Amino acid sequence: MNLNWNALVAKMKVTGEFDPDGLEADSLEHDYNEGRTVIRTYGSRITAHASVGGGGYFPWYPEYEIRRIYVASGANGKGKGREIVTELMERFTRIELGLPRKVPTFFLISKNPAVWHIAKSLDFAAVTIHSMPYVVDWANRGGLYYRLPESARCDEPWKLKEPQRWLYLK
Ligand SMILES: CC(C)(COP(=O)(O)OP(=O)(O)OC[C@H]1O[C@@H](n2cnc3c(N)ncnc32)[C@H](O)[C@@H]1OP(=O)(O)O)[C@@H](O)C(=O)NCCC(=O)NCCS
Repeated sequence: MNLNWNALVAKMKVTGEFDPDGLEADSLEHDYNEGRTVIRTYGSRITAHASVGGGGYFPWYPEYEIRRIYVASGANGKGKGREIVTELMERFTRIELGLPRKVPTFFLISKNPAVWHIAKSLDFAAVTIHSMPYVVDWANRGGLYYRLPESARCDEPWKLKEPQRWLYLK
């Protein structure tokens, strides 16, 4: 069965929630073939998608970004989002069992309250410079500097205008 990656990308683009950089069918399919993606399908249609990016600066303390979390309308609101994020984290935790810290760090960046809710329910916490004073250095080190949300670098994130992107980390 050929999966319709072009249709998935088109739907993801319409939401306006995703960084257009690299949001291309070939790239998503490549990540999937490399085992970095969890999907749900209905025939050739991809109804849910989440993938892992990065790996981090120190190979023995891996840090994975969970990104491109998408559940098609019609399939959403039924726990699929949490399910695919959980499956992805389990997959990458198993790979890392030989490492010193045992459990890798996971993070995500989102302005979607449903994603914040899912993250909190999986024990992620929102990051600010108060909870993680070295967050800017951390982002620099991982090549994330330009994507680090304003909420994670400013003094009074609670005063920022919504919708605001937040970094969640576990
Ligand atoms: C965000 C998205 C992935 C959620 O998928 P989903 O399958 O509906 O998610 P789930 O059903 O697993 O969980 C959603 C949770 O968020 C909660 N929720 C929904 N809207 C919410 C809101 N505005 N504020 C707080 N919580 C909210 C739901 O109650 C549910 O929690 P519960 O299971 O504890 O009741 C999906 O709606 C989507 O793809 N949206 C468009 C793309 C997008 O914004 N992706 C995120 C980019 S980072």
